[in-house]
Amino acid sequence: IKAHHHEFIIQATKVKRLCETHNSITVNGMFPGPMLVVNNGDTLVVKVINRARYNITIHWHGVRQMRTGWADGPEFVTQCPIRPGSSYTYRFTIQGQEGTLWWHAHSSWLRATVYGSLLVLPPAGSSYPFTNPHRNVPLLLGEWWDANPVDVLRESIRTGGAPNNSDAYTINGQPGDLYKCSSQDTTIVPINVGETILLRVINSALNQPLFFTVANHKLTVVGADASYLKPFTTNVIVLGPGQTTDVLITGDQPPNRYYMAARAYQSAQNAPFGNTTTTAILQYKSAPCCGVGGGSGTKKGISVKLIMPILPAYNDTNTVTRFSQSFRSLRRAEVPTEIDENLFVTVGLGLNNCPKNFRSRRCQGPNGTRFTASMNNISFALPSNYSLLQAHHHGIPGVFTTDFPAKPPVKFDYTGNNISRSLYQPDRGTKLYKLKYGSRVQIVLQDTGIVTPENHPIHLHGYDFYIIAEGFGNFNPKKDTAKFNLEDPPLRNTVGVPVNGWAVIRFVADNPGVWIMHCHLDAHISWGLAMAFLVENGNGVLQTMEQPPADLPVCY
Ligand code: C2O
Repeated sequence: IKAHHHEFIIQATKVKRLCETHNSITVNGMFPGPMLVVNNGDTLVVKVINRARYNITIHWHGVRQMRTGWADGPEFVTQCPIRPGSSYTYRFTIQGQEGTLWWHAHSSWLRATVYGSLLVLPPAGSSYPFTNPHRNVPLLLGEWWDANPVDVLRESIRTGGAPNNSDAYTINGQPGDLYKCSSQDTTIVPINVGETILLRVINSALNQPLFFTVANHKLTVVGADASYLKPFTTNVIVLGPGQTTDVLITGDQPPNRYYMAARAYQSAQNAPFGNTTTTAILQYKSAPCCGVGGGSGTKKGISVKLIMPILPAYNDTNTVTRFSQSFRSLRRAEVPTEIDENLFVTVGLGLNNCPKNFRSRRCQGPNGTRFTASMNNISFALPSNYSLLQAHHHGIPGVFTTDFPAKPPVKFDYTGNNISRSLYQPDRGTKLYKLKYGSRVQIVLQDTGIVTPENHPIHLHGYDFYIIAEGFGNFNPKKDTAKFNLEDPPLRNTVGVPVNGWAVIRFVADNPGVWIMHCHLDAHISWGLAMAFLVENGNGVLQTMEQPPADLPVCY
């Protein structure tokens, strides 16, 4: 087994964007952080040394972490934070996953600047199931605040209102030349005529699903979330935060400079959002402007027009549906055909009344309320003295309960307009759902219209799941089961639950540990849009969690 050793030094670094310099938290002074490249089957050993003034953890988004839940990373779920001045080494092996994953901080809003790509190539000696690309190009779509992101989160928690929108979207940390002061802060992707490049697009934005496109070039989608897909072509892709998409493009257009662009897909109604566009430039090496080897700018006498692509309208849900319904796994899918556990989980927002003795500035949500969110009417609260996994492993009582309900407390017209106000105020709790080792699980994820219907990117740690169906309205077990694809559904770690709709996922609980499932819109996590599974050990050694590493941070 090949092992890759890395050191991640968490530190404050001056980063200048949009004319202003901020003391941003970075890994090794890089923004975005280092790209990790491994082969399927390799082991990663990453020592994280915290030299910043914040607690932090790192999550390896999409890595299955078979039996190595101690390395998963979400704060107070699988570990306590790495405190300033201390360190923790994450050790895990990539097993059976190929394509694009990524890593990010899983603590407060530090992931706004602490993130990077994790490319998993086929095992040494084997090749891609498609034309071998000339090059890999990771494109991390992100969000930039003209403020300290940790303060943006704190302020929204303090006031109960929605957090401020970001000031720019970014591609590989650069806003692109449509933003002020950013003509130099534009990512350039060089290409040769006839070359095929593999774009590894990652939505690492905190709160915004994004459309992405390249002017005049066809996109051939070949994978998502480190699973291969039957290739299909499209002009535009869409990704919720957490999702990745692998796209081939070929240099088959007249040599020139073409914009690659991303902007918001906004499904929530009447909610403010950033409606700006981030760009990168696909630059032919033989373009008239640039000469061999690239360079930017205009040569005297030659006018070079930068070609802008057409992006869908902000609320173009039809394009999103057409795109997600094109996904078919490349290989025959091993979907469980029988199920042992059948959960129905509502995902949605809520509004808590402001207690009378609160000062009004603490309740700046709609009509003097505070925002909240829940799954099955339980707003998830993380412990603060233990991690859930440590509490489970050491049998520490009182940290969590295992009574997360398999269905919502009452049935209602989830996507209707007349939802009773009493359903707006969920209960708080640290409720887990217990799964026997090896159980076959189905979850219907149902969006609600409470406050606003919205496309929620729901991410499950420690697992990939098959998305066997999706649709609009209320899930109807009588007729919607006919739509289940048990042949070749896509295998993912994050599903965009359609706005005003539902998605059905299936997986086998073969990875013991504690695994959080949450909306990957960070604002919604802080409001409680999460729950966690406790998967029990099986009988054999290979069905049992590894022992915790000696340097696992303690909480107190
Ligand atoms: Cu990418 Cu729990 O996160």
